[in-house]
Amino acid sequence: MYICICHGVTDTQIEAAIDNGSTSMKQLSNELKVGSQCGKCCQCTKRVLNRKLVQIAVQELEVA
Ligand code: FES
Repeated sequence: MYICICHGVTDTQIEAAIDNGSTSMKQLSNELKVGSQCGKCCQCTKRVLNRKLVQIAVQELEVA
């Protein structure tokens, strides 16, 4: 699903960037340019970021 229309960025691309080490909106913006034009995708991007970070944390707890 497209999250950022201005730059054609999908939730899958955002999740991949997080898997590759991005942990903040600033890092996602630098890497994918999300939120750098009209800014309307910021809330949605934050939701994807938070969901993915929680998912990673839960996976790490299950491994430990
Ligand atoms: S929709 Fe992402 S900057 Fe406009």
